[in-house]
Amino acid sequence: MNIDFIILAAGKGTRMGGNSPKVLASLAGRPMIQHLIQTVDSFPRSKTSVIVGYKSKEVEQSIISTKKISFISQKNQLGTAHAVKQTLPSLKKNSISVVLYGDAPLVKKNTLNKLINSAAKGKLSLLTFIKEDPMGYGRIIRGPRNSVQKIVEHKDASSSEKEISEVNSGILAIKTDLLQKFIPSIKNNNAAKEYYLTDLVEIANKNSVGVVATVCDSHEVGGANNKKELHDLERQCQRRLGEDLLRKGISVADTSRIDIRGETKIGENSFIDINNVFEGSNVLGKNVQVGPNCYIANSTIKDNTIIYANTVIEDCVVGKNCKLGPFARIRGGTELNEGAELGNFVEANRSNVGKSSKAKHLTYLGDAQLGSKVNVGAGTITCNYDGKNKHKTTIKDGSFIGSNSSLVAPLTLGEGSYTGAGSVITKDVPKGKLAVGRGKQVNLDRKK
Ligand code: UD1
Ligand code: CA
Repeated sequence: MNIDFIILAAGKGTRMGGNSPKVLASLAGRPMIQHLIQTVDSFPRSKTSVIVGYKSKEVEQSIISTKKISFISQKNQLGTAHAVKQTLPSLKKNSISVVLYGDAPLVKKNTLNKLINSAAKGKLSLLTFIKEDPMGYGRIIRGPRNSVQKIVEHKDASSSEKEISEVNSGILAIKTDLLQKFIPSIKNNNAAKEYYLTDLVEIANKNSVGVVATVCDSHEVGGANNKKELHDLERQCQRRLGEDLLRKGISVADTSRIDIRGETKIGENSFIDINNVFEGSNVLGKNVQVGPNCYIANSTIKDNTIIYANTVIEDCVVGKNCKLGPFARIRGGTELNEGAELGNFVEANRSNVGKSSKAKHLTYLGDAQLGSKVNVGAGTITCNYDGKNKHKTTIKDGSFIGSNSSLVAPLTLGEGSYTGAGSVITKDVPKGKLAVGRGKQVNLDRKK
């Protein structure tokens, strides 16, 4: 069975506010419509058309698909039936057409499969849901034996019809030849002067085509017309992502307090505490522990590493068996090799920390290359910026940097070298030497 997916995405979405097309509003870090694309991409023998209009270039460029998508332009947004009409000539013969609204992106594959099977039996098949405050939605008018007589849009509804809480999701499936036959007869004689796709229901009934409406969970088929609904979709989407992790054997302290914006892969037996935000693309290995309140973006964290509370990691690679935080910040392509530790109030930028090296307190490492088993004392700063340029600090294997050292780059500290606490180091330190660069202590008599 061939499937023709038709995704409506031409409107601006005035109720959402702002100037960006509504279908590009961010949902779990991706444009809302991208969630639908991912779902339809998973259907074999399917073709996808996206109806674009408002800021069409922006919409087209934002979509990433594994399949070729036909973008069909709808110059003036004269209504949902008018939008579907634009695709009619390009639909496959004998296929099933599935209409999706770009602003209702969380429908599951399983649900669509059932909808398609019902349409394959010659029915007009719809998905509906119950909305306590159905303001703005098309109401489902049921008749005897649960039949569906028509859909009445909010603007056209009588006060008793407005009481109905079963509403149209917009998602429907029908044999393509029936769609091609019915759409041209839809008129715009309604309150909005728009061509309503929902008029299909009455037309199907007139033509003795059965109409089946399945009530679904509002979290799944509900859409986002405004900021409140977008917020609710985001929470739903995050809950699903959290539950997916649990199913894969990852412990999540609270699925209502995790935010995955983009794509984050996490290995089994890892633990994610509350209030963590993952952004962009991240890969966490097995048995990784992430304490509360961390922000992790575009980074890799390998097996058995512990990230303590309130740590920020951006564009970094953290090796196996490392410890980071609490209150550490690493960024700019920083790499920690196996067993490295950066502790509280340590910042590392564009740096490489060798195997088993440690800076456990109050340190800034900028443009620094640390060999293995280096120990950096509290309060150490790499002075990497002279006001114009950035310079490198190289600290070779087994070196020991005394507390409160200022390492003025460019600088190389040889293997096994030492610096005395409180030193300002401006010259290279040869292998094995102890460098001391500080005023000598004098003990003076005090005036009585
Ligand atoms: C529509 C339904 C309503 C349903 C609701 C669910 C109609 C007439 N009404 O109303 O029954 O309860 O969705 O959210 O279908 N679009 C176009 N071209 C157009 C008009 C719309 O591509 O000319 C796109 C929009 O970008 C959007 C989708 O179609 O993605 C739905 O349009 P929208 O204006 O949000 O419809 P609703 O008023 O919500
Ligand atoms: Ca809508």
